Amino acid sequence: MAALEDHTSTDAYYVTTPIYYVNDRPHLGHAYTTVAGDVLTRWHRQRGEDVWYLTGTDEHGQKILRTAEANGVTPQQWCDKLVEEAWKPLWEHLRIANDDFIRTTQARHTDRVQEFVQDLYDKGEIYQGSYTGPYCVGCEEYKLPGELLPGATEDEKLCPVHKRPVEWLEEENYFFRLSAYGPKLLEFYAANPDFIQPASARNEVLRFVEQDLKDLSISRSTFDWGVPLPWDDKHVLYVWVDALQNYITAAGYGSDPERFARLWPASVHLVGKDILRFHAVIWPAMLMAAGLPLPRRVVANGWLMVGGEKMSKSNLTGIAPTDLTSHFGVDAYRYYFLRAIPFGTDGSFSWEDFTARYTSELANDFGNLASRVAAMVGKYFDGALPAATDHGPAEQAVADALVRAAAEADRKIGEELDFAGGIAAVFEFVKLVNGYLTEQEPWKVAKSPDGRDRLATVLYTAAEALRATAVLLNPLMPDSAAKLWASLGAEPALGALAEQRIATVADWGRLPAGATVTKGEILFPRLEEKAAV
Ligand code: MSP
Repeated sequence: MAALEDHTSTDAYYVTTPIYYVNDRPHLGHAYTTVAGDVLTRWHRQRGEDVWYLTGTDEHGQKILRTAEANGVTPQQWCDKLVEEAWKPLWEHLRIANDDFIRTTQARHTDRVQEFVQDLYDKGEIYQGSYTGPYCVGCEEYKLPGELLPGATEDEKLCPVHKRPVEWLEEENYFFRLSAYGPKLLEFYAANPDFIQPASARNEVLRFVEQDLKDLSISRSTFDWGVPLPWDDKHVLYVWVDALQNYITAAGYGSDPERFARLWPASVHLVGKDILRFHAVIWPAMLMAAGLPLPRRVVANGWLMVGGEKMSKSNLTGIAPTDLTSHFGVDAYRYYFLRAIPFGTDGSFSWEDFTARYTSELANDFGNLASRVAAMVGKYFDGALPAATDHGPAEQAVADALVRAAAEADRKIGEELDFAGGIAAVFEFVKLVNGYLTEQEPWKVAKSPDGRDRLATVLYTAAEALRATAVLLNPLMPDSAAKLWASLGAEPALGALAEQRIATVADWGRLPAGATVTKGEILFPRLEEKAAV
């Protein structure tokens, strides 16, 4: 097994999503985090960094076992089917560029998990005891009596998330000495104030850990769908303890020390706010017990809500992402949720709001700008981009605005995970370019006999602004950015879009005069037309 000294490297930008339960098909809520991680990692790739993006599926536990039983198949058959038919195809459809996909039933995971827990057992971090208390199979979580809601009868208590009765467990099982880690965790949070984000999430964790932590039951003995404990095979590991380790098993822990040194510790664990404690309390404590470094950041996002409740399949409120992409397209889908909901807060999806943003921001502000500029270069210069021979203050204002927009987007998207803010910065720039065209009125300049230099300069400026916009929007909307890149004829001189770097995106004048500009496809067709197709 890899030793602690091996894990000093900070080389790669390693981002993870939660691994999803495959008891059901994915809905908008699942896709939300995965798209966010995709945009973040594409952004860092475009900075030229060594990036690794991991997602996958969580396949053990009672929830999946019961679903499989209800469907008359084995849990493995059920998982294989859902992973291949629902989860992987959706990520492909949404253009998720993950570098690996871990399934917790793979031997590369289960073997390492057994080694990890055996190590903790050998170190005296795990002991035998008995658990009596409530459990929610929907959450796969031991609950505290104080957090439950009253049910229909005196004895019935409901899970606050699922609003369904919890089960009462009385089991012999094994415990991890989580209680011993409270002070060490608090010390760690104090020394690493950015570890948990946003601040509301950090405060919630601090309040929780400041109370006495209880030891954690880490095994179950009443069913067998899980990773067997190596020293007592009457028990399987509690699904969460197995699941959290995916972040290291997929990174080469215990199997590929070189890769593990490159990837671990993870740069960002993206999680939904409901699974924050697992990632910000239990996982760090397990890593401390194993002597491994802790991830650098745990960033919690809010929930997509329907009627004031968390969207979920079990409440029959889960909307399939393809219901929206078939109408709005994949790029608009990727755009909408990150633009409309500040990352970290809850938000609701509304068909009207999506339609309004699609029409005004994507189709009118951005799509129209791209097609108007290409059309004018075609009409007035036969599609050969003219040189800006008359670059003056108005043009310099556009160039300066680009420098500011690129820096702001880089800080907000790349560092702060403020996707809405970063996207807004790029779209403010798009608006400014529209304003520039409105002021310069190239269609009028074209009519004046001595306006040739001015016309050339205005169209060059707008095309160069679009060149930068394509680069800045590539992580968010890769298909539209690629269409724009092609329409600007940028590739022969500048190379592939994916090779463009954020550091040089605002260097004015990169797109060479003479580039072959073509009209290309409409980036965001009118929705009525789309619906009629
Ligand atoms: N399998 C665990 C995670 C293990 S990670 C080591 C799990 N799976 S889940 O499928 O139930 O949820 C996965 C993620 O989806 C969580 O981060 C959860 O917050 C997120 N979402 C599920 N419904 C959601 C919304 N309605 N809105 C936003 N995210 C939500 O928990």
